[in-house]
This record gives sequence, structure tokens and C-alpha cells, in this order.
Amino acid sequence: MILYLMAGLVLFLFFGTMFYAWVFGAPTVYTPYKAVVRMVSEVNLKNGQIVYDLGCGDGRILFEAVKKKNVLALGFEIFFPVFIWAKIKSYFRDKKGVAKINFGDFWYKDFHPANVIFCFLTPKSMRRVGEKFIGEAKKGACLVSYAFKVDGLPPQKVVRIKGLAPIYVYIKN
Ligand SMILES: C[S@@+](CC[C@H](N)C(=O)[O-])C[C@H]1O[C@@H](n2cnc3c(N)ncnc32)[C@H](O)[C@@H]1O
Repeated sequence: MILYLMAGLVLFLFFGTMFYAWVFGAPTVYTPYKAVVRMVSEVNLKNGQIVYDLGCGDGRILFEAVKKKNVLALGFEIFFPVFIWAKIKSYFRDKKGVAKINFGDFWYKDFHPANVIFCFLTPKSMRRVGEKFIGEAKKGACLVSYAFKVDGLPPQKVVRIKGLAPIYVYIKN
């Protein structure tokens, strides 16, 4: 009986959280490192700022941010094996700031505390991220999206790197 329960739990933690991510955000596909470096450098981070990555994957954007500045970088990841991998990686990183990987659904996180929000999601999710950004983010907060824009919200900047998808930068007025 215990074995069945354990097997069920393991299957849920793998397939359940994987499908949840697909339906309520995006599947796990990592932003290429060249784009990660550019996304972080584009926002000109300052010490003490709060950074979010919505669906942080293996944490690469957060790790790049804390390598550059003394920021508090919070990642939210729902796909359990990827969350564990990011958590392990976070212990072995070179850092000036603090990177915290949280297991959970980023749709339940308030955007207000964040100075910078990174994401790489689907076009459908970007519509909802745009609404949350407009509704919750503070004035001057920055949203940086790899590959997909927020329909109906004009970006402040579009960064193009040869061979990669565009990077969209939005600032909250
Ligand atoms: C396209 S990947 C991007 C990963 C990382 N941000 C990067 O740029 O390399 C999107 C990630 O979001 C996670 N995700 C999708 N929906 C989510 C949700 N509602 N809450 C938390 N994480 C979610 C997925 O599991 C996946 O790892």
C-alpha cells in the first residue's frame, strides 16, 4: 500500500506538475545563455532591487542577476524535477546577491514588490502577465520577456540578437 502511495506521489510530482506548467504557463524550454546575459544587462540592475523570474526553470536568469548585483532574485517554478534541479544549482553559484527558488504557481504572486520581472512563457500566458503587470507592478518596474510580447502593450525596447528570438522590455508608467 505504502509503495503504491509513494509511486502515485512520484508520478504526480513528475507528470502532474509538468501538465500543470503546460496548461497554466509554458513547458520547460530554457532561454539561451546569450539572451540571458543580454536580458540582465538591459535592465541595469541596482543593488537592493527585487527580481522575479516567472517560471524560473533551472534558475539561469536569477543566477546571472545575482552574479552581477546584490539583488534578491526570486524564482517561481511549478515543474517539480526542474524546481529541484534549480534548487541544487542555487547552492553552488557564485553570487553577490541572493537567489531563492520557490516551488509554486507564479500566478498567485503579487508583482508589486518586484523591480524587474523576467519571463519566457507562451503568447497566451503573456496576455495574462501583461494584465498583472499593469494592475500590480509599481511605477518604474520593468518586465523583460524572451520571445513573446504582450499584445496591446507597446514595449519600451525590442532587443534583437542574431539567431535568437527578440527580447521585449516594458516599463510600468
Ligand atoms: C519556457 S520555460 C522558461 C524557463 C526560464 N525562465 C528560462 O527562461 O530559461 C517556462 C517555465 O515556467 C514554468 N511554469 C509554467 N507555468 C508555471 C506556473 N504557473 N507557475 C510556476 N512555474 C510555471 C515551467 O515549468 C517552465 O520551467
